[in-house]
Amino acid sequence: MAARLVKWCACLLREASLVAPAVAPVGRLRFTQVTPRTLTSSATSRSSHFPGSLSGLLEKEQVFATRPEQQEVDQLIQKATRPEELLELLNGGHCLQENHAALMLIQLSRLLSDKPEYKASLMQDARFQQLLQLVNGQIASVWHGPLVRLLRSLYALALPAACKELQSVEQEVRWRMRRLRYKHLAFLAESSATYMQERGSQELLAELLVHLERRWAEIEDGRMVVAMMAKTGPLSEPLMNRLEDKHVLDRAQTIPVPHLCNVLLAFAHLNFHPEREDQFFSLVHEKLGSALTGLHPALQVDVVWALCVLQQVQEAELQAVLRPDLHTHFLEGGSPKDQSTFQKLLHINASAQLEHPEYTGPHLPASALVPRLSALDRKVTPLQKELQDTLKGLLGGSSRGSFMVPTQYGWVLDAEVLLDSESQFLPPRDFVAPHLAPPSGSQPLPPGAKRLAFLRWEFPNYGSRSRDLLGRFALARRHVQAAGFLVVDVPYYEWLELRSEWQKGAYLKDKMRKAVAEELAK
Ligand SMILES: *[C@@H]1O[C@H](CO)[C@@H](O)[C@H](O)[C@H]1NC(C)=O
Repeated sequence: MAARLVKWCACLLREASLVAPAVAPVGRLRFTQVTPRTLTSSATSRSSHFPGSLSGLLEKEQVFATRPEQQEVDQLIQKATRPEELLELLNGGHCLQENHAALMLIQLSRLLSDKPEYKASLMQDARFQQLLQLVNGQIASVWHGPLVRLLRSLYALALPAACKELQSVEQEVRWRMRRLRYKHLAFLAESSATYMQERGSQELLAELLVHLERRWAEIEDGRMVVAMMAKTGPLSEPLMNRLEDKHVLDRAQTIPVPHLCNVLLAFAHLNFHPEREDQFFSLVHEKLGSALTGLHPALQVDVVWALCVLQQVQEAELQAVLRPDLHTHFLEGGSPKDQSTFQKLLHINASAQLEHPEYTGPHLPASALVPRLSALDRKVTPLQKELQDTLKGLLGGSSRGSFMVPTQYGWVLDAEVLLDSESQFLPPRDFVAPHLAPPSGSQPLPPGAKRLAFLRWEFPNYGSRSRDLLGRFALARRHVQAAGFLVVDVPYYEWLELRSEWQKGAYLKDKMRKAVAEELAK
């Protein structure tokens, strides 16, 4: 798998360098610039998506109307924050053009993405049915980009498989398959393959895979590779085999280091482990051995961070970025990029400390940790607020728990509680707390006491349509555990199922009880 991937990347990058003036310098890839998402920041906007996720590519592809009255409708659609605002457009005397109905459905599905309870009532709404019919009547003139997004959106809205408007969109996609650009096909594969499987749209899926396989040479974007691999690889042997070659690792030797770094960063983002992991990483270490310290300092940090995420980092690599002459600059720098690099350095330091007991140094000086965890000023999400309120209710006293706890590992805990051996709450700040920034307290924990960390996982913390945490968040979870906490995970998809205050409280109590029971069973 790894060898195939490497070959694939090599082909791809060769193609890319023929087309584009230069391959984007690795250090400037968008995903290295994304504002750091810490544990608690868990960005609510989906626009900060990893670009390897193809949704990002298509969302950016705007469909601009040319005439002013159309532009006005475009804006109303884009700005709508409630389904009602969109449905009202239907009878508001607006002049709706060919793509408008499709854009409205796309926006509706976006607004309802985390509100499954509304989807059923939407189906009953006459205006929604009217909208479906409108789009059905215009389907042949909807542009390619909106068409594939429309299909994904209708799937996401959970329309019944027998819905004839949905079938007509599927049919239109099949007719246009040859004319769609590769990125449209890849987008469908990434965003909708699972839906197609679940709904029995096997023919469409099969055709899609055949086209992806035949036209793989049209891949024009390095970011696509990893997303495609992760999503479509398991569905299509031919697509992967297409690129299989006899003696291939030899060729991998000639892959330029910056390209290998890109692959590594993409893997780390998704927390993706290639099948022939050992071979792949021995190649990586071999190539980085001589080249790492020659890379741009921020890229060195990115690469070592990626290796930490993937649990592959070696002592020499840790040393390369934790030596003072490399990191001083980032500790002082104030730009968002420097801040993001600094935060990664904290994570790397934490990996050294928590996951590599044999590591002898250097480390980041403790003094580097001025509280600049900007995550603390971020907007509070609904899940965050509800979690805090519910937990405060259970604790029955503000000193019995801590909320939004910044740790020296560069992560912020949603909440921390301390339980004695009888599972009664103790005030955590009365006791030694080595994880804090700076560490505090001196009174040792009573025997049998347990520290629990609550970690909230929002929709954007997961890979697309999966329940696997993205690399950054998997790393956070691992560190918090290694620091001696019992982790209480609060994923958005479980929380959304809970209706009453009572249910929420019972859920948290149950989770705590399970975390303790699992620990005792060890
Ligand atoms: C880095 O790790 C060392 C060793 O565990 C620790 O003493 C130091 O405080 C850490 N630095 C920061 C900035 O957290």
